[in-house]
Formats: sequence, structure tokens, C-alpha cells
Amino acid sequence: MTVSPPLVDADATRAWGRRLGRMLRAGDLVILTGGLGAGKTTLTQGIAEGLGVRGPITSPTFVISRVHPSVSGGPVLVHVDAYRLGGLAELDDLDLDADLDRAVTVVEWGHGLAEDLASDGLEVTLEGESVRTATVTAWGSRWATAEAQEELGGLGAHLDGSLDASVDGPVDAQSGSTEGAARDAEGAGTAAEAGS
Ligand SMILES: Nc1ncnc2c1ncn2[C@@H]1O[C@H](COP(=O)(O)OP(=O)(O)O)[C@@H](O)[C@H]1O
Ligand SMILES: [Mg+2]
Repeated sequence: MTVSPPLVDADATRAWGRRLGRMLRAGDLVILTGGLGAGKTTLTQGIAEGLGVRGPITSPTFVISRVHPSVSGGPVLVHVDAYRLGGLAELDDLDLDADLDRAVTVVEWGHGLAEDLASDGLEVTLEGESVRTATVTAWGSRWATAEAQEELGGLGAHLDGSLDASVDGPVDAQSGSTEGAARDAEGAGTAAEAGS
């Protein structure tokens, strides 16, 4: 189980979702749990950015599932909102299985419903009134390797509550590496000290 740093606003939730999205590959299943307005669709927007699929990711009112093609040669994103689904039978009726091996599937309101779509997966539970936290639990062999466990751990909160820059890495445009972010963070401290 991994608990995210405090996700202070929608942008923070999206940024954390991007990091999660970059870890995902074809065949992965992610179940999003949390009440109305918890941030499931917001998180999916971040996952979509991390995956590199075409948006926009919206909260579907009538549509239960949407397929977002990749713009980066990766897997498509199948985004399901199961809120109005009556049960697993209806989920099966959507005929999702067809592409799931080649897709990353994200199911809002999928708890107790979508687990059987794959033999392994992640459940992300969003909680909190204003600041959200995301708790990730994993099941199945896909996430049991040391490498996957380490990746999941990288999504977690650190003692100082900061994101792990080496994992977070919005790639620094100038340096072309993720080290820029860490350097910038250190640099900011140095500059403040120098100015005092
Ligand atoms: N920390 C936060 N994380 C995510 N969303 C937030 C946060 N703070 C405020 N919000 C707002 O809460 C709403 C979440 O909506 P949405 O993502 O559609 O939720 P859900 O899909 O779970 O019903 C959005 O309007 C978003 O801007
Ligand atoms: Mg939603």
C-alpha cells in the first residue's frame, strides 16, 4: 500500500496522476474509488497525460466508456465510469474485454465490479475534503516484482511531504533530464540563503 503526498489542489492531483500514468502499460487495470467529486476524473486526466493519449478526459454523463487513442505510440486508454452500471454483467455487456490486453483501463466507481476484468491491477482510493490523499493498493503478479514495488513506492509521500523529483521528473526542457527539478529545488534554497 502506498499513500500519496497531500494533493493540495486539482493540479497536484493531475501531476500525481501523470506520474502514475507513466508507470502503466498495456493490459493494466486501475480502479478509482472515492465519492462524487473526490477527484477520480481529475486523476484520470493526469493519468492520460502521463500515458500520452488524446483528450479531453471528461466526466461522462451518458457515455459509460470512452477510448482515448495514444499520441505517443503507447497503449490506448479505456476510461470507464461505472457509476450507472448495475453490476458486473452490465460491465461485461460493454464488451470491454476485446481490447483490454492492448489498453490501460481506468474504471471510476469500479470497486467490487471491475476487479475481475484482469488478474492484476491497482485500486486508487481518493479521500479528503479539500486536500486529497490517494492510497494505492495493488494485486496480482504484475505488481509483485521488486521493480514494480519500487515504482509504486516512488509514488508515496516522503517525510518532508515532497514529491520525489527523481521519479516525478517533468523532464526539464533545458537540461533534458529530471535532475533539473532537483537542482532547481536546491538552487532555490541556496539563492535564499545567499540573499539573506
Ligand atoms: N485536491 C484536489 N484534487 C482533485 N480535485 C480537486 C481537488 N481540490 C478541488 N478539486 C475539485 O474537485 C472536483 C473533482 O471532480 P472530479 O474529478 O470530476 O471528481 P469525481 O470524478 O471523483 O466525481 C473538481 O472540480 C476539482 O477541480
Ligand atoms: Mg468522475
